[in-house]
Amino acid sequence: MNFELKPLTLVAAAAEKCDALVVLIADGFRPAKDDLSLLIGKAMKSEDFDTAPAKLLSLYQPVQAHATRLVLAGVGVGGARQVRASLLAVLAGLKGVKLKRVVVCFAAPAKEEAVYAIVQAMADGSYVYTTTKSRKEGRTLQKVVVCANNASELQMTFDKAAGVAVGVEFAKEWANRPANFSTPTLLGQAAQDLVKSARSAKFDCQLLGPKEVAKLGMGSFMAVAQGSEQPLRFIVLHYNGAAKSQPPTVLVGKGITFDSGGISIKPAAEMDEMKFDMSGAASVLGVFRSLVQLKPAINVVGLIPACENLLSGKAVKPGDVVTSMSGQTIEILNTDAEGRLVLCDALTYAERFKPQAVVDIATLTGACVVALGGVRSGLFSTRDSLGAALFAAGEASGDLCWRLPLDEEYGEGLKTQFADMANIAGRTGGAISAAKFLERFTSKYPWAHLDIAGTAWKSGAAKGATGRPVGLLVEFLLAQVLSPVSESTYAK
Ligand code: BES
Ligand code: MN
Ligand code: ZN
Repeated sequence: MNFELKPLTLVAAAAEKCDALVVLIADGFRPAKDDLSLLIGKAMKSEDFDTAPAKLLSLYQPVQAHATRLVLAGVGVGGARQVRASLLAVLAGLKGVKLKRVVVCFAAPAKEEAVYAIVQAMADGSYVYTTTKSRKEGRTLQKVVVCANNASELQMTFDKAAGVAVGVEFAKEWANRPANFSTPTLLGQAAQDLVKSARSAKFDCQLLGPKEVAKLGMGSFMAVAQGSEQPLRFIVLHYNGAAKSQPPTVLVGKGITFDSGGISIKPAAEMDEMKFDMSGAASVLGVFRSLVQLKPAINVVGLIPACENLLSGKAVKPGDVVTSMSGQTIEILNTDAEGRLVLCDALTYAERFKPQAVVDIATLTGACVVALGGVRSGLFSTRDSLGAALFAAGEASGDLCWRLPLDEEYGEGLKTQFADMANIAGRTGGAISAAKFLERFTSKYPWAHLDIAGTAWKSGAAKGATGRPVGLLVEFLLAQVLSPVSESTYAK
């Protein structure tokens, strides 16, 4: 799908030929003298339409526009939230209509956050999953033209939004694929193909298999993978958009392509949703897809430990003790707490890049879903400045998160007689004790952790991946272009 920003007024937008013209109308709208404005004014006077968010009025082949369909859409105060809600309602209302070309126009000068939201909502609302359907009736929408009379001042935000949209979609696509279509091997190939598609020496990808990972001493990661017939992959992605001297940001994505729980097996109900347990990995791939398009002047490394968590005669057992790459030993009391076991070795591997910051992204705990639901991801950081930067990126992109604590006391439950630590603590504060486990592997650099268990996918009738938190991460990375990170930025 293609996005274009045009410097057009409402009158000019009405002259565009398209399958649908969507006019976003905010509070305080005052009709001008043109036919379309007068029509809007009339509809408002008769109370058939008002500017409340997601209030819609649809017309077919109106004489006031060249469009086949005209939709007036209220956006209230015209912020990102309202624009998003309104456009998703418009697309839901037009479901089943084979739209190819849509023009979205603001009836007044548009805010940056609104333009960003238009692009996200149009991409999100028109996505159709087809990979494992026999009839490939995917998205019909080919072109979205966004019109604003202040277009020139919006171009940067618009380009960023379009770059984020392709990344979000890439993440959604890979997270949605069933586990037999997104094995560790296939994820590795996706990373390699992505790098090839960039046709740029700034991108690179290395794939490590069981032998290389054993040589690195990643005993914790290997323990999770050992119950599966699928060979594990450790995926290393590089983007060098800046000078070599500039330390990279490292993103680590949990890549459990299916989480059965292992010997500590999960209940059958909704176990299918554990195909989404590689959503952290998908978000790292998504960020790299965005980088291919945006090519900002920064350095980024992506790390993905990918494997299945299954049961077999070879599977790791409760009580088994393993040695992580860091040298610390771990007693695996619950094989379903596997995310932290694959992440900890990736976090140790990250040290070699002397990173300015490491951010891991993981569908880590059901406890985080209980705490924050599906609205905000859980955010943890050992540095306040890094936590603040990620929080701010969430607010700016609408891909929200919320900081949770890392007090020492939360880690006490990880004590055990039989190893340096156990992989689970008590029943309470589960999202935090999981973060406390990871923290033990991050002493060498500024670190943050995003628990996306509640935000990476939706359950129920609308079951599917959300592509989060690609928006947050790209926003966070692009902020580094405007104010480059120095040694003191994320100081303790
Ligand atoms: N992948 C799950 C976390 C999860 C659960 C994500 C539900 C989304 C929805 C993770 O591997 C897991 O099983 N965590 C356990 C940890 C527990 C055994 C300490 C959990 O949250 O129950
Ligand atoms: Mn698990
Ligand atoms: Zn898991």
